[in-house]
Amino acid sequence: MATTLKGKDILRADQFTPAELGLILETAVRFEAALRAGERPANMAGKLLATLFYEPSTRTRLSFETAMLRLGGQVLSVAEAKTSSSAAKGETLYDTGKMIEGYADVAVIRHPLLGSAQELAEGAGIPIINGGDGAGQHPTQALLDLYTLIKEKGRVDGLTVALAGDLKNGRTVHSLSALLANFGVKFYLVSPAALSMPPDIVSQLARRRVEMVETMDLAEAVAHSDVLYMTRIQKERFSDPAEYERLKNSYVLDSALLAGAKPGITILHPLPRVDEIAREVDAYEGAAYFRQAANGVPVRMALLALVTGQE
Ligand code: NCD
Repeated sequence: MATTLKGKDILRADQFTPAELGLILETAVRFEAALRAGERPANMAGKLLATLFYEPSTRTRLSFETAMLRLGGQVLSVAEAKTSSSAAKGETLYDTGKMIEGYADVAVIRHPLLGSAQELAEGAGIPIINGGDGAGQHPTQALLDLYTLIKEKGRVDGLTVALAGDLKNGRTVHSLSALLANFGVKFYLVSPAALSMPPDIVSQLARRRVEMVETMDLAEAVAHSDVLYMTRIQKERFSDPAEYERLKNSYVLDSALLAGAKPGITILHPLPRVDEIAREVDAYEGAAYFRQAANGVPVRMALLALVTGQE
C-alpha cells in the first residue's frame, strides 16, 4: 500500500514511520523548488486551515498561515485564543475539536498544556497538527530542523549533534531527539543539572541504542559536535522567577566559544533567541538559524497538503 498521511493527526515526532518521513521530506523538497520557480505546488483552493494559538508564537503561526495561503487555501484564526475564545468560559479542547471540524479542513493548535493537541484531536474529525503542547512536543519544528540538517549538511547519519540549553522544558529538543534517533546520530545533551533532559526521553533514546553524553560543559560539546542546537531557557515554564534568574544565562554562545568549535560546525536554534547566542555569531557561515526558520514554510506546506489528501 502506498504511504499516505491523508487524514492523519501530527501530534508527536516519534509517530512517523521511515516511509512517512521520506514522504514528508521529499514533498517539502519538491514544494520548495516550486516556490522558487514561482509555482503553486498543490492546489488547496477551497480548503480552510484553522489556527488556535493559546500561547505566544511568531514563526509557527506565521509559517503555517503563509504555507496555507501559498497553497491557495485560506486561514481562519483565533488570535489570543486563551482569553478571547470559549476556553475562557471553560470549554474543553475535546468540545472545541467537535466544533472546529464543522468550520475547517485542518487545524493547528499551540497550547500550554501537555497533551492538549491530543485532546483536541480526540474530539475533531479533521487532521490536527500540534504546534507545541506545553513542555511536551513540537513535531513540525523537528521536521523542519531535520529538513534543515539535510540541506545544510547533506546527510544526517553519523552526525554528532549537541542539544544545549533548557532540555527539561524545551519541547523542540524533545521532538528533535526522537526524530534524529532514526538516523544514527550521536548526542551531547548539554544543560544545567536542573534543566536536564527528562528521564523518560533519555531512557527512550537508550532503548533505541542512541549514543549520548550528558554534560554541563558547552565548550566540550562544541569541540566534538558537527551541529549545535541551542535553545532558550523557557521562562514561561518556571514557577519560581528566582530560579529562572539563576539559570537564564547558563550558556551564551559567542565568538570566543566558537573558536574552540569543531571546524564547519552548524548552529541551529528554533528561535526566538534571548541571550543564548550573541549577535556576533550571526555572521558565521555555519549560523543557520534564520535559514532554518525559512525552511518552516515548505515543510509546513508539505504537511498541510499531505494530511488533507491534496498531495
Ligand atoms: C519554540 C517553541 O515554541 O517551542 N519556538 C518555535 O516554535 N520556533 C522554541 C521556544 O519558544 O523557545
